[in-house]
Amino acid sequence: MKVTICGKGGCGKSTVTSLLAKALARRGNEVLVIDSDESNYGLHRQLGMELPGDFTGYFGGKENVLNDMMLSEFTHQFFQETWTMKDIPEKYYSLKDGVKLMVSGKIHQANEGCSCAMGTVMTQFVQNLRLAENQFALLDMEAGVEHFGRGIDNGVDLVLMIVDPSYESLQLSKKVGELAESIGKPFYYVLNKVTEDSREMMYENIWRPEQVAVCLGTDPAIMKEGLTGKELSEKPETIERLAEFLISLASKQEGSHVTGTV
Ligand SMILES: Nc1ncnc2c1ncn2[C@@H]1O[C@H](COP(=O)(O)OP(=O)(O)O)[C@@H](O)[C@H]1O
Ligand SMILES: [Mg+2]
Repeated sequence: MKVTICGKGGCGKSTVTSLLAKALARRGNEVLVIDSDESNYGLHRQLGMELPGDFTGYFGGKENVLNDMMLSEFTHQFFQETWTMKDIPEKYYSLKDGVKLMVSGKIHQANEGCSCAMGTVMTQFVQNLRLAENQFALLDMEAGVEHFGRGIDNGVDLVLMIVDPSYESLQLSKKVGELAESIGKPFYYVLNKVTEDSREMMYENIWRPEQVAVCLGTDPAIMKEGLTGKELSEKPETIERLAEFLISLASKQEGSHVTGTV
């Protein structure tokens, strides 16, 4: 099952991705985490891994990818065949405890250009990736909804939006839900950094409260590890439940449509 993890900046996308990847792997699943946020420098640390090489390097680097795209008037196909998790070359992933991490590409220098090369390669990669029932790909997205515009979500089975207690997140819950529905993808919300005071208000203001999969509280241990760039070691019960939920959806998955509630 391929899952997009999205939401506004700082809502907890990378945190939930890391915790969820570990929870799925502990249950014997193979997990591929795809770092699709060109501005994110923390995900590999949260997973306790080294940063692997930019996947655009496999296609000769960002400049080459852009050239191929422009010369073909943006029709270039970077993948001739379908890929499985095993086909990812060693240079382009890190591996720890059943979790593989790959990185679309990072912005390394000022004035190096936009990130559409990474976006295009990843969109095509996700579309070409074939997974078995016990394999999960978690896509940690850049903030906002540009990924819907890029079309990367067309290749996934489910959209998971992380919603923190802010007006912006709650507004975005409608936009994300509508975008997911418009491409026929089921979506669920994960409420994050929830407190006693904010929980009820979040349920009242989110677009589709019935799509809330789980609620993760503000956890001082997660905050401390996040602040110091340490590997996340917490195993919140909420995330364990979320992992079980995704596993049950994956087992029911027929074609590309899945439904269900926690
Ligand atoms: N449930 C939580 N409890 C405490 N701190 C959290 C929680 N979720 C996220 N954080 C903290 O919030 C900050 C932003 O989280 P991050 O996962 O990097 O967000 P994003 O990837 O959406 O930008 C980090 O410092 C992280 O440690
Ligand atoms: Mg992030």
